[in-house]
Amino acid sequence: MRLISSIKEMSALSERWRREGKTIAFVPTMGYFHEGHLSLMREGRRRGDVLVVSLFVNPIQFGPKEDLNQYPRDLERDKALAQKEGVDVLFVPKQEEMYPSGFQTFVEVTELTQYLCGLSRPGHFRGVTTVVTKLFNIVKPHIAIFGLKDYQQYLVIKRMVEDLNFDIEIIGYPTVREADGLAMSSRNEYLSPEQRKSALSLSQGLKLAQALVNAGETNVQIIVNRVTNFIKQFPYTQIDYVKICDPETLEDLTEIKDKALLALAVKIGRARLIDNTILEVKK
Ligand code: PAJ
Repeated sequence: MRLISSIKEMSALSERWRREGKTIAFVPTMGYFHEGHLSLMREGRRRGDVLVVSLFVNPIQFGPKEDLNQYPRDLERDKALAQKEGVDVLFVPKQEEMYPSGFQTFVEVTELTQYLCGLSRPGHFRGVTTVVTKLFNIVKPHIAIFGLKDYQQYLVIKRMVEDLNFDIEIIGYPTVREADGLAMSSRNEYLSPEQRKSALSLSQGLKLAQALVNAGETNVQIIVNRVTNFIKQFPYTQIDYVKICDPETLEDLTEIKDKALLALAVKIGRARLIDNTILEVKK
């Protein structure tokens, strides 16, 4: 595995691979790898001739009061894990090279970002779409893999790729969970043992909702109330949102007809955790 930090070097290598007719698969990350990241890498390994993983804690997607400085980092451990997954290049660009002084261009998806995390994290998705555009231009992948754990991010990237005619196939990969159901996240690191127990309220809340739908409940308000009350019973939980919406447009629904996205964001101590599922009405 090669570790590349120079943008020029990464770009030249990708250019060469393209000339050689190789299919480039790409997994962008902010590092501190867990099984979710590693599963995305395995999927990339399967789909591409060569696999690039980027590791960059992107400052412009964090709000001024968010956890940029506390975000967990361990490059040595990440290098070893990526190497084990057969990654060809771990691309670790420098902040000064990504955002030199004078940087002033941003990419914005205007509508899909008006919901869910877009409301509680203003500017977050603009930071994500801008950095992903830069990474796409540098790495020049044919295929890029994103986790459905960040479902809104996946939709926003798909929209951007379509709207701006990026010639890149975007793959969504299902959420990888701990044995007890907790969605894997670098931010789980922030949880104390007691808070870790409360973090189960998210995945269990999703299960509760699907059980209600299975029992014939389709009223969004009723399901949202039940899930909200369920999560509130757990100590340390502070709900940011519990939303049931259209899985493509993210617009609010009042009634579940066929499929609906249930998305949760809950603060537990200093960890802001998200999880989601597609609720399906079985006919
Ligand atoms: P990061 O949070 O490091 O996540 C990198 C990728 O791993 C994302 O596509 C995310 O959805 C996926 N992922 C995280 N947890 C997962 C899980 N439990 N199961 C499956 N996939 C999971 O998302 C980002 O970084 C950044 O916003 C980025 C796209 C790199 C732009 O800076």
